[in-house]
Amino acid sequence: MEENGLMAKVGKGVAIVTGGTRGIGLAITRVLARDGFGVAAIYHGNDQAAKDCRKQTGAAVYKADVVDFDSCAAVCKKIAGDMGAAAVLVNNAGITRDGMLHKMDPENWHAVIETNLTSCYNMCRAVVSGMREAGYGRIVNISSVNGQKGQLGQANYAAAKAGMIGFSKALALESAAKNITVNVICPGYIRTEMTESMPPNVLDNIIRQIPAGRMGAPEEIAEMVAYLADREKGAFVNGATFSINGGQYMA
Ligand SMILES: NC(=O)c1ccc[n+]([C@@H]2O[C@H](COP(=O)([O-])OP(=O)(O)OC[C@H]3O[C@@H](n4cnc5c(N)ncnc54)[C@H](OP(=O)(O)O)[C@@H]3O)[C@@H](O)[C@H]2O)c1
Repeated sequence: MEENGLMAKVGKGVAIVTGGTRGIGLAITRVLARDGFGVAAIYHGNDQAAKDCRKQTGAAVYKADVVDFDSCAAVCKKIAGDMGAAAVLVNNAGITRDGMLHKMDPENWHAVIETNLTSCYNMCRAVVSGMREAGYGRIVNISSVNGQKGQLGQANYAAAKAGMIGFSKALALESAAKNITVNVICPGYIRTEMTESMPPNVLDNIIRQIPAGRMGAPEEIAEMVAYLADREKGAFVNGATFSINGGQYMA
C-alpha cells in the first residue's frame, strides 16, 4: 500500500508483527503503536481486516506469506525501505488444522509446521543480520499452551509450538551478546476468530478446565509483548517462556 509509509510513525523504532491485522496480532499491533513503535503488520489474505487495522491503529500493513522464505525476505526489505530496519519482530501468524494423528493428512501436518514454525525461521532469518549489525533487537514468538502440554487432535500444532520454544532458546543464545533478546509467550485459550470457530461444546469443556473460569483477551497477551519489546524493561529477559493461561497449565 503506497500510503503506508506516510501513515506509519516510526517513533521508538520499527516493529514487525506477523498476523498483525486480526485477533491477538491486532491487539499486539495496537499496543505497540500506542507505545510509540512504527508498526508493520503482516497478513496473508484478509484485505478487509488489514484495511480496518490500518484505519484503527495507524500501522502500516503488508501482504506476505510467512511460509515462503523469499516472500519474508522481500517484505522485510520493503518494510526497511519504507520505514527503517526492524528493531522488534513478533512472530504471531499461526493456523490450526486439527485431527487425530491416525487420520492426519501430510498436507495438514506440513501446513501447520510451516505456518507456525518455519515462519519463525523465515522471518528471523530476514531481520536478524540487521539486528546484529545494529547491536539491538527484540524478538517475541507466540507459541501456545498446547505446545507446552500437548493436546488431543493437535500433534501438528503442539509440535510446531513446542518447536518454537527450542528455536527461541537457541537463537537467544546466539544473539544475547549482540543485545538481542528472543522470548516466547504461550497463550492459553484467547477469544479470537481462531477459537470462535471451535464447536461451543468443546469450548465450554475447555473453559471448565481453566481455573480463572474464562478465556483470555487478546490484550492480555499484547501487554506482555509490549513489556518484552521495550528497550529497557525487557533487556535482561532472554530465552524465557511465559505462560498466560488463567492457571490452566503451570509449566
Ligand atoms: N486464539 C487462541 O486461543 C490462541 C491460543 C494460543 C496460541 N495462539 C496463537 O496466537 C497466534 C494468533 O492467533 P489468533 O487466534 O489471533 O489467530 P487468527 O485470529 O486466526 O489470526 C491469524 C493471523 O495470522 C495471519 N496468517 C495466517 N497464515 C499466514 C501466512 N501464511 N502468512 C502471513 N500471515 C498469516 C492471518 O492473516 P489473514 O488475516 O490475512 O488471514 C491473521 O492475521 C497464533 O500463532 C496462534 O497459534 C492463539
